[in-house]
Amino acid sequence: MERLTLDDEDPSGARGFLVWRAGSGRTVEIFDIAVPNEYRRQGHGRTMVNKLVDRLMPTNVVLLWAITRSDNVIAKQFYEELGFRIVANLWNFYQDTEQRNTVDAVMYGRDLSEKVRRAWAEKHQGGQS
Ligand SMILES: CC(C)(COP(=O)(O)OP(=O)(O)OC[C@H]1O[C@@H](n2cnc3c(N)ncnc32)[C@H](O)[C@@H]1OP(=O)(O)O)[C@@H](O)C(=O)NCCC(=O)NCCS
Repeated sequence: MERLTLDDEDPSGARGFLVWRAGSGRTVEIFDIAVPNEYRRQGHGRTMVNKLVDRLMPTNVVLLWAITRSDNVIAKQFYEELGFRIVANLWNFYQDTEQRNTVDAVMYGRDLSEKVRRAWAEKHQGGQS
């Protein structure tokens, strides 16, 4: 697991954090992302995901994915706004501790494969020389 925050001025993640890990193959999972209530809707979540994407672009990772509860409307809007698409609907994915109730989840994926990668490289070419 690796953890990133907004910037160097917030090493503890008081304004938000993102936890990610390498999955099987060339995939990376956003395991958790959270921004405290008072800092929400200021672009912090977007900044952290973009930071992770920038970090993954020069690597061979082709898919960034995340799973969230189906009833988490905000998270779903968030991922869709950031270019993620639904990969799978995961029925009864989460189970509560007493194992009485189940909650559906949605798996989102963002394609980081060649086409996207090339566009990113072209955009950043000037800054690399
Ligand atoms: C999901 C979460 C991380 C978003 O963080 P954030 O910093 O508020 O998000 P941003 O400000 O970067 O928002 C980016 C876009 O997501 C969408 N979005 C974010 N919050 C939204 C809300 N409350 N309602 C509708 N859309 C929302 C918007 O499209 C937004 O772009 P806009 O503000 O230009 O319209 C935050 O709401 C959170 O911590 N939620 C609780 C934890 C959680 O559910 N994590 C995800 C599952 S692991």
